[in-house]
Amino acid sequence: MDIFDKIKKNRGPLGQHAGFSHGYFTFPKLEGEISNKMKFRGKEMLVWSINNYLGLANHPEVRKVDKEAAEEYGLSLPMGARMMSGNTNMHEKLEAELSAFTQKEDTILLNYGYQGIASAIDALVDRNDVVVYDSESHACIIDGVRMHQGKRFVFPHNDIEKLDLQLERASKLTSQTGGGILVITEGVFGMAGDQGKLREIVSLKNKYDFRLLVDDAHGVGTIGPNGVGTGEEQNVQDEIDVYFGTFAKAFASIGGFISANENVVEFLRYNMRSQIFAKSLPMSIVVGNLKRLELFRNDPFHRENLWKIANALQSGLREKGFDLGVTNSPVTPVFMSGGMFEACNLIVDLRENYEIFTSMVVYPVVPKGVIMLRLIPTAAHTLEDVNYTIEVFEKVQQKLKANEYDKEKIVFA
Ligand SMILES: Cc1ncc(COP(=O)(O)O)c(C=O)c1O
Repeated sequence: MDIFDKIKKNRGPLGQHAGFSHGYFTFPKLEGEISNKMKFRGKEMLVWSINNYLGLANHPEVRKVDKEAAEEYGLSLPMGARMMSGNTNMHEKLEAELSAFTQKEDTILLNYGYQGIASAIDALVDRNDVVVYDSESHACIIDGVRMHQGKRFVFPHNDIEKLDLQLERASKLTSQTGGGILVITEGVFGMAGDQGKLREIVSLKNKYDFRLLVDDAHGVGTIGPNGVGTGEEQNVQDEIDVYFGTFAKAFASIGGFISANENVVEFLRYNMRSQIFAKSLPMSIVVGNLKRLELFRNDPFHRENLWKIANALQSGLREKGFDLGVTNSPVTPVFMSGGMFEACNLIVDLRENYEIFTSMVVYPVVPKGVIMLRLIPTAAHTLEDVNYTIEVFEKVQQKLKANEYDKEKIVFA
């Protein structure tokens, strides 16, 4: 079998739909300045599908610093991986500022969050250790777990009783192997928007010996009294042993970081293959990230605005009877019933007739017959945007219930 023939026949779970989805449902092009409104296929749309939570992507001070840093340093500097030739004072300054922000002893920057977290899992555990992880973990955690050579036990999403059972199993095993246990979960689950039950997980430390890694990609900057994230919100930041954040969401930039105690960060610095053997973050990105961190540490305004919009959107939709599942973060899933083509036609209607751009999630991410529209409120939205969206959602929900969306093919009016 020629592998190229094989992939011609089997395009993969997402790729199989590329024929009709490419450019519209998948790989759409949003153009213009990043804001509440952007252009899609030449038309201005109200956009609810970008993780610019704090509205910093187009903040004038951020844009100014990004421009000046690019002018001063270019995009090439530093050349090489941190360990060989890519270290700078600015990288270390950002790490120190992030440690102060996350209330941890030390921080390591990651050139991409995804590779960083997968690589951190790979570095932290060996064949004698056991990884225990939430079933709805992000793909980067799953990839990290896939590299693990020892046992891995999964627990159903946020099910603490089942986690307890898995920890009991893991403890028995590690008492034989002499290894340790790493529990992995998320601060905010990016699809359904519910927070990981960090407080309950941490309380299991009284019963079992384990270390806790939390992926707080959606929580950092958005949640907690000072925006420190889900650990701060649930008052357990000290008990998170390995704290991961990304620059790709609230920071509106790229890259990520891990904060932990000095011992752990020093170990990761010399053992994370994705960082030792890959180029470090460009200087202009590091300088831009310093500015973003300064803005949201010193000015709660951005976070307050985000929550004003998120609360108005969620309470408004709930008042109208929409099912938002179990979210307790800004991530706003709206659940409806229907098949894949109905979902596609509803999205076409939203975009073509109401100028609303949002993402949809269908089977296999959600069960068959469920349509999930996923809205990401940001500080760049207005209450007018919220009210308009709720009105339109009522209309499209009615059309869906009245079987007005074709169930077998996509219809562009
Ligand atoms: C929960 C979670 N973890 C990690 C990542 C990866 O982060 P990055 O975009 O910085 O690679 C994402 C991004 O979508 C995410 O949602």
